[in-house]
Amino acid sequence: MAAPGGVRARLWDGPVRLFHWLLVGLVAFCWWSSGDHLNWHRWAGYAVIGLVLFRIYWGFAGGGAARFSSFVKGPRATLAYLATLGSRARSETPGHNPLGALSILALLATLVAQVVTGLFAIDIDAFEGGPLSDRVSFELGRQIAEWHELSFRVLQALVVLHLLAIVFYAVWKRTDLIGAMVTGKRRFAVDPALDRAPMWRFVLGAALAAAIAWIASKGFRF
Ligand code: HEM
Ligand code: HEM
Repeated sequence: MAAPGGVRARLWDGPVRLFHWLLVGLVAFCWWSSGDHLNWHRWAGYAVIGLVLFRIYWGFAGGGAARFSSFVKGPRATLAYLATLGSRARSETPGHNPLGALSILALLATLVAQVVTGLFAIDIDAFEGGPLSDRVSFELGRQIAEWHELSFRVLQALVVLHLLAIVFYAVWKRTDLIGAMVTGKRRFAVDPALDRAPMWRFVLGAALAAAIAWIASKGFRF
């Protein structure tokens, strides 16, 4: 039975929250350092590679609301969810709703495009480049640098949309999503009793992601 006023229940696990806030800081740092601090820019970029790899792994190996299978839904569920947007009822979805899930997938895909293009990008004077830029011609490296910039514009647009959606939930649906991404807990009518992945899976995924990011920083040369 639902408790009156609902219950504060666990939603986001530590790894998802750590991933999220590190990502926010590192993407901001990548933006800031993309002009005159390309060395720092690359290092922060490698960290983003590690984070994104970890999040993809965690979408399969993590538990509860972190799993892709818990939030990636087909067009029918997405349309059904769209129809509920006008209602002011608090969101009861334990995790990303079907519409939000699309924006999360778009953010992750754009981040993948961002880091992959970064690996091959060449600066205008050809002094600077990603660790794989010597594998492509100057012209192609410059072209890829333009895609790198384009993908950043897409990322910026998606982040604006992301923030607008969060404001919409706060104001219209009276649902505090930010607090949940900070504390890991959110108020629900009934505790969704999400399961958690064991610690060793986190340690394994984090180590694998860090190792691959490190190898990428060396241009995959051994
Ligand atoms: C989330 C991660 C990243 C973000 C948000 C990002 C963003 C940016 C932006 C905004 C620029 C300036 C583009 C311009 O105005 O021409 C830039 C340039 C550059 N980035 Fe990234 N970047 C990321 C990751 C990476 C990675 C992983 C690498 C490679 C290791 C990389 C290598 C470069 C290089 C070489 C340039 C210079 C290209 C040029 O001067 O046109 N970036 N990046
Ligand atoms: C560079 C900027 C940002 C990027 C790239 C980004 C990316 C993401 C991603 C990938 C997720 C999915 C989390 C997961 O399932 O692992 C997410 C969720 C979330 N983000 Fe961000 N984010 C950014 C900025 C922010 C900011 C500034 C805030 C708030 C102040 C915020 C609040 C949230 C919240 C509340 C969620 C959970 C949404 C839900 O309950 O469905 N994000 N973000």
